[in-house]
Amino acid sequence: MSKRTLVTSALPYANGPIHLGHLAGAYLPADLYTRYKRLRGEDIIHICGSDEHGVPITIAEEKKGVKPQQIVDEFHERNKKVFREFGIDFDYYGRTSSKLHHETSQDFFKKLNEKGIFVKKKEKQLFDQEANMFLPDRYVTGTCPVCGHEEAYGDQCEKCGSSLSPVELIKPKSVLTGNTPVTKETEHWYLPLGKLQPEIESWIESRVGWKANVLGQCRSWLKEGLNDRAVTRDLTWGVPVPLEGAENKVLYVWFDAPIGYISATKEWAIEKGDKERWKTYWQDDETSLIHFIGKDNIVFHCIMFPLTLMKYGEFVLPENVPANEFLNLEGRKLSTSKGWAVWLEDYMESFEPDLLRYVLGTTLPETKDSDFSWKDFQTRINSELADILGNFIFRTLSFTDKYFNGMVPELLNPGEKDLSALNEIAQAKARISESYDRFRFREAIAETMNLARTGNKYFTETEPWKTRKDNVEACGNTLYVSIQICAALSVLFRPVLPNKMKELATSLNLTEELNWNDVTTKMIKPETDVKAGNILFAKIEDDVVDAELEKLKESSESDEIEKKYTPLKKTADYNNFANLDLRVGLITNAEDLPDSNKLLKLTIDLGFETRTILAGIKNVYSPKDIIGRKVCVVANLEPKKMMGIESNGMVLMAEEDDGKLHFMTTEADIGSPVF
Ligand code: 2FM
Ligand code: ZN
Repeated sequence: MSKRTLVTSALPYANGPIHLGHLAGAYLPADLYTRYKRLRGEDIIHICGSDEHGVPITIAEEKKGVKPQQIVDEFHERNKKVFREFGIDFDYYGRTSSKLHHETSQDFFKKLNEKGIFVKKKEKQLFDQEANMFLPDRYVTGTCPVCGHEEAYGDQCEKCGSSLSPVELIKPKSVLTGNTPVTKETEHWYLPLGKLQPEIESWIESRVGWKANVLGQCRSWLKEGLNDRAVTRDLTWGVPVPLEGAENKVLYVWFDAPIGYISATKEWAIEKGDKERWKTYWQDDETSLIHFIGKDNIVFHCIMFPLTLMKYGEFVLPENVPANEFLNLEGRKLSTSKGWAVWLEDYMESFEPDLLRYVLGTTLPETKDSDFSWKDFQTRINSELADILGNFIFRTLSFTDKYFNGMVPELLNPGEKDLSALNEIAQAKARISESYDRFRFREAIAETMNLARTGNKYFTETEPWKTRKDNVEACGNTLYVSIQICAALSVLFRPVLPNKMKELATSLNLTEELNWNDVTTKMIKPETDVKAGNILFAKIEDDVVDAELEKLKESSESDEIEKKYTPLKKTADYNNFANLDLRVGLITNAEDLPDSNKLLKLTIDLGFETRTILAGIKNVYSPKDIIGRKVCVVANLEPKKMMGIESNGMVLMAEEDDGKLHFMTTEADIGSPVF
């Protein structure tokens, strides 16, 4: 185990407020991990801050006349404040407009330049003649050359995820004036990813414990071959390129932003009064560096930034990059421009932070996109936090208060049920720890709730309301054991529910801060005074979540979501259709193909025979969730070989606007024809 851990979470752009998608992508998992490790007594710091450069911020100036500085000043403060209120416990929240950050990122650029790492290239780039400026990145939109999406940005297509350069766009259009840009020559510094590919490839392949979604993305880029990336831009907002003759050029935001993790750590060290201390976190081999990010940031954290660090030298490289997929909202892709989002500041006006920490924690998009819905929020609070955890704590403490004068009874001649419930504390703790260590936070939270479930079940089964009348010793044992489980929960649930568990610890008279290692079967001594306490989790009524749903609809209606339907294909000949043999099939097995980014290998029973069919659904379904489904299969399609495997047929799917896929399912018998 390494001596210390440095956790970073993606620096959010300071051009807008924080929403639930941000939290689920990076900040909540990073905070859960940090709090867990800290409770274990480990040396860990969590660094974040505002990303204050980049084109989205300058476009706001161009469009609305607001100065970039004014925008970033506002959102830096707002975001920092709301993160704190929500309990995201950063050790330091920096900003990339700070002087130290400019110096640090300029030092990186200079050193790499002096080492001859960059390649300088003269190239034609898009230029808006009316606005008299080059159009890097998001200053231009157009049709994606890969998938045909008509509103792709100059740096990326948000529909298919391809990373692009502005000149690749078909029918490019300037965001500033709507004009078709011309091309004009300019000169930039490039990180030659093509040449450096073997180095990054062997480093990536040497990583252990990385998530399949992260490795899959990296491998698919490497397979396509990396393109050189410019690390400078023709802009005035950003970190100036520290070279003569590079006036009006700044560092590319994705070059300077990750260096922001380093500059923020330097500022943290200064604040701690030990200026050099940042070095132990960044330059000592015994540091484990973990980047928490959303999936759209993978290329920068797994390829560009590690290469930058390698080429600079002296720095530790990321040990893991546990990137999450995306969070949808009420079944639809989250969209800030369309008002389809839940803003953290709004949430905090109506609810307590711990509730959302729990609900989001149980639905994190760890292996595939997941969905937040207000109904699910209500269900999880009412039937898990209130009915299981809250109920168990309440009945234990109020029973002790009422029948044992608020004093913890002794454990005397415990029976099998008592011992096995006590035993569950250590087992649950081991399972929870393992899940946290492997970045499986949903599992960690589910396991923690299972301990409360065990406690509840034990309480019900030992019936203290009966034994208090005819077997006081047994009744005392039930309460002793239940109180120990409550005490264990007050620590094991602390990463998720820091405020509520503090309240519980106070009720249990646990005055000193206990940590993970203190979780045993004897956390509270007999005769300790415990308080009945309040109900920790009130239930959420229907009208409350209905109001939230209404709010969401109103905010998105103001910016009407226009639904675009895929145009109909031209009329087909009936015989062409009739020649297709569609059948009902049962998925009897599904396997991941580790070398493919998209494909799952399905075994499908058609009744009269069993087929192997490859389906491009890896991003939507995990193998274990689809076994046993009845689907519709094109059964007389020519076999096709992919990844060395012959695929014998095709599974029909329905595709939504955002690319989400659904099986065409049926109740009909296996082998039935579909027409
Ligand atoms: O995607 C984003 O929101 C970026 N601002 C994340 C930057 S992460 C890091 F490199 F700073
Ligand atoms: Zn595309």
